[in-house]
Amino acid sequence: MAQRIALVTGANKGIGFAIVRALCKQLDNGIVYLTARNEERGREAVARLNQEGLQPKYHQLDVTDRVSVKKLRDFLKETHGGLDVLVNNAGIPFKRSSPDSFGTQASVVMATNFTALLEVSRALIPLVRSHGRIVNMASTVGRHVYSEMSEEVKGRFQAIKTEQDVELLMKEFLEHANAGDHMRKGWPNSAYGTSKMGVIALTRVQAADVTKDKTKEDVLLTCCCPGYVATDLTDHKGPLTVEEGAVTPVFCALLPPGSKDLNGKMLYQKSVLDFW
Ligand SMILES: NC(=O)c1ccc[n+]([C@@H]2O[C@H](COP(=O)([O-])OP(=O)(O)OC[C@H]3O[C@@H](n4cnc5c(N)ncnc54)[C@H](OP(=O)(O)O)[C@@H]3O)[C@@H](O)[C@H]2O)c1
Repeated sequence: MAQRIALVTGANKGIGFAIVRALCKQLDNGIVYLTARNEERGREAVARLNQEGLQPKYHQLDVTDRVSVKKLRDFLKETHGGLDVLVNNAGIPFKRSSPDSFGTQASVVMATNFTALLEVSRALIPLVRSHGRIVNMASTVGRHVYSEMSEEVKGRFQAIKTEQDVELLMKEFLEHANAGDHMRKGWPNSAYGTSKMGVIALTRVQAADVTKDKTKEDVLLTCCCPGYVATDLTDHKGPLTVEEGAVTPVFCALLPPGSKDLNGKMLYQKSVLDFW
């Protein structure tokens, strides 16, 4: 069996770090890349796993930096000729303590949680080989804010067919967030939740797109919620450990052949959450 290459974004700490640890243990004949935007933090994280007898490799990746994304893509192409598992984990919270306006904060959150995930996917999914698995980190918060949207906005999410459709909806949310009228226009008052709803909607179209590529077989793309996990992102308030939070993303990353029915779905506690 050929060597399998896995890569996790934003993996120097939190759930991403625990996903790398679990993949190092569970991916047969594989190399796992722990990526991080900061080289020192990334290499320290690798060293911690080395002390546990695990051998992930480090590669720099700032998901919001196009040059960094391109360098990683070229590296993977040249070194391994492709990729088998991609976990789009990097994400940031909405900082309620920030002095910035809602619109400014919303732009920052959207740039990492939605736009960067889309750009990393556009660069790396073409490298994903047959039987590859792509996992987007969403959140049940996304599902919750969907329930708060007006029927009109919900209907537009339901009608989404392309990546551009999702991009346009996220852009529209930001325009209203900046104008301060997002709630009057039927949008929820959560930039983090809306960015994650964007990821859920994107997952549905990306999954449909990967199945259209007839040069590859059995590529599956899902999104998931790790649960409420004690990390920096939640100010360590969640009841779950990072190891527990990694369970569903790792389940998605290692889906066995014959899991086609899960393509495009959102998973929580290893089960499908259906809400469209
Ligand atoms: N914790 C929860 O309860 C929970 C629930 C639902 C969903 N999630 C999602 O799970 C994912 C991981 O969250 P977490 O709780 O583990 O958060 P975390 O502990 O704060 O870790 C977030 C990771 O993302 C990285 N990151 C942020 N911006 C980046 C960028 N531009 N480029 C590369 N890496 C970047 C951070 O790197 P730095 O150290 O350099 O900042 C860090 O490694 C996120 O997508 C989050 O939205 C978490």
